[in-house]
Amino acid sequence: MYVCVCNAVIEREIRQAVALGVTTLKELREGLGVAGDCGRCARDILREELATACCGELSVARGA
Ligand code: FES
Repeated sequence: MYVCVCNAVIEREIRQAVALGVTTLKELREGLGVAGDCGRCARDILREELATACCGELSVARGA
């Protein structure tokens, strides 16, 4: 499923990036070109994946 309409990035790519150690929106933007416009697309998935990876604690740097 496409998550980032602006940059044609699918949800699985974002989840895989988090599984490989991505922890901020800035890293997602640099690695996948995602969230380069509105940024709404990746924020929720990043939060969800990090919450799962870090036992429920969010470690997303807001606006990073
Ligand atoms: S939908 Fe991804 S940057 Fe806008």
